[in-house]
Amino acid sequence: MTARPAARIYRGTTRNLSLLARRLRAGELVAVPTETVYGLAADALDARACAKIFAAKGRPAHDPLIVHIHSLAQLETLAETNDAARRLAKKFWPGALTLVLPKKSAVPAIVTAGLPSVAVRMPRHPLMRRLLRRCGRPLAAPSANPFGYVSPTTAEHVRAGLGKKIRFILDGGPAAVGLESTIVDLRDPLRPRLLRPGAISREQVEAVLGKKLGSGGAGGVVAHAPLPAPGLLDRHYSPRTPLVLHKKISPAHAAKGDATEAWLFFARPHRLTGSNIFWLDARGDPRRAARRLFGLLRALDGRGFKKIHAELAPGGGLAEAINDRLRRAAGLVNTS
Ligand code: TXA
Ligand code: MG
Repeated sequence: MTARPAARIYRGTTRNLSLLARRLRAGELVAVPTETVYGLAADALDARACAKIFAAKGRPAHDPLIVHIHSLAQLETLAETNDAARRLAKKFWPGALTLVLPKKSAVPAIVTAGLPSVAVRMPRHPLMRRLLRRCGRPLAAPSANPFGYVSPTTAEHVRAGLGKKIRFILDGGPAAVGLESTIVDLRDPLRPRLLRPGAISREQVEAVLGKKLGSGGAGGVVAHAPLPAPGLLDRHYSPRTPLVLHKKISPAHAAKGDATEAWLFFARPHRLTGSNIFWLDARGDPRRAARRLFGLLRALDGRGFKKIHAELAPGGGLAEAINDRLRRAAGLVNTS
């Protein structure tokens, strides 16, 4: 038997977009760029195509997918909308916000893991928007990583993780946001809940709704589905190198540590350098830190350190999302 062909990375030419839109309509998987992270897409209305997503990622069937749309008209075919959803969509779409709403029957059960609700997002990335328009179908797409590993923010990350499982990757450059979307549960518009923090902050969503957001359950993300205890998934967690979180790392402490352990500061530490000293952004700018987080975790994971010490982001807003991802990477919260 010959080995399966490795995935090919396609530049965003008009010809390639037509080809990839045809592959999607034929029920194949295509890894796609979005402004948050890369997604692994299939025709959301084709249950057999969506089943391939779960197989390629090694994703458990109880973990539902996000459906990506091009227009508000598409939203109406997939979900029961409400006034709160329309207000958030108007303010933040296209963008890094996913809304959970009661689903309509057009959405196959496999997409929502059997839940009566569906998660929908209108992405902003221009290539993804062109692909969605050409394809003419909503696209189901979780992050394009093997289940439990760090989400990909470049086409190369996708190839490194799924290159043997898929054939098509559309290259849209490095993801501008770098963290997965904010997920807001609007099944009951009177009691909106934040299921996952993201670049669109809790405070921004609350300002539009004129209401405080409740929180998800333990771990926050998969509504209704029980979350496995973090310990059970220890070895799958990302990065593979054990990650230890600190509210604040003292440069003096890091300087005394041994060189087999890496220190990941939020901002550049004063007068400290070394082959095991890293920072998310020199000036500690949260947007730039978010953009670099996943790529840096991957790079550090490949360096053979025994342990990575990471400093939490200070403050609210985007810091809530960055710290949520650090906790997931440390195996303290379930991730998919
Ligand atoms: O930015 C993003 O959200 C990226 C890009 C590709 O759009 N997608 C993404 O998908 O990160 P991912 O791997 O996180 O998987 C989708 C998550 C599920 O794990 C689940 O937590 C949540 O979305 N989700 C999907 N449908 C849901 C539903 N009906 N109720 C609650 N949560 C849901
Ligand atoms: Mg994911």
